Amino acid sequence: MTENTPKVLIATVKPFSAEAKEAVVARLEGAGFRVEVLEKYPDESALLASIADAHAVICRSDKIHAGVLEAAKQLKLVVRAGAGFDNVDCATAKAKDVAVMNTPGQNSNAVAELAFGMMIYLCRGGFNGKPGTELRGKTLGIHALGNVGKNVLRLAKGFEMQVSAFDPFLDAAAIEALGAKPVDSAEALYASCEYVSLHIPNTPETKGSIGEKLLTSMPEGGTLVNTARAEVIDEAGLLAAMKARPDLRYISDIPPSTETRASLEADFAGRCFLTPKKMGAQTAEANYNAGMAAADQIIGFLKRGERVNVVN
Ligand code: 3PG
Repeated sequence: MTENTPKVLIATVKPFSAEAKEAVVARLEGAGFRVEVLEKYPDESALLASIADAHAVICRSDKIHAGVLEAAKQLKLVVRAGAGFDNVDCATAKAKDVAVMNTPGQNSNAVAELAFGMMIYLCRGGFNGKPGTELRGKTLGIHALGNVGKNVLRLAKGFEMQVSAFDPFLDAAAIEALGAKPVDSAEALYASCEYVSLHIPNTPETKGSIGEKLLTSMPEGGTLVNTARAEVIDEAGLLAAMKARPDLRYISDIPPSTETRASLEADFAGRCFLTPKKMGAQTAEANYNAGMAAADQIIGFLKRGERVNVVN
């Protein structure tokens, strides 16, 4: 291996499990690449320095914005080891002839399992010993049936929930074929479901789209489960809905703004649960699956020109 050997940078503020990282490094080195691992970097300067001579980068929610791409003089490929690529400036990457890929589906079971873990935690009163409620028989609305939504549907069937779904990109027949009752709008979904599990991406169209109107339309005890993105929530609307409706509940794996978090935790104790850190995809299995898929996509791209899961 020489200085001219192509370099792959693994840049993860939130590191993969040790086993997943070792396997990913071994796969890439076995294919003849130089690998640098940059974990838990305290600030962007370390990323800017390390990406300067990288030909490909594996990231998670790390922000790969225009300035980072500008510093990456050799870069040909960014692989977001995960589903959502809203942390990567895809347009600037395209303009610089840098491909962006994601690894869809590799961490979706982990996220879906956490959604149920959080639902049970909340409906059992945070395990406080008082009588809670069960999920069996309750109505669950799945807002978007992508990879995570489909896993939520699979698990909901085991809990014997009554599942409806809305997805702007799927027609009623497709939703029915997957085993959920189709509804034809987000409004109809929220108005008819006691639990709604959110799986929409963060895009200009979805930003701030879940707010007071949808939430206050939910039936008695309505509970929104957010393992998607903070940005899709209208936080002022969420707080207003929680205030207006003392029965509404909010569960999230995605940290809201500091102020909203403080308000939710101070004013609505027992009706909201927020994980200390985003951790839906933080399992050994998901880290391994997403990391190895990213490594294989890099090898395919740099060695054979394969363009799997290119998103820009
Ligand atoms: C994803 O989009 O795949 C998830 O949000 C996981 O994000 P993470 O890799 O930052 O945990």
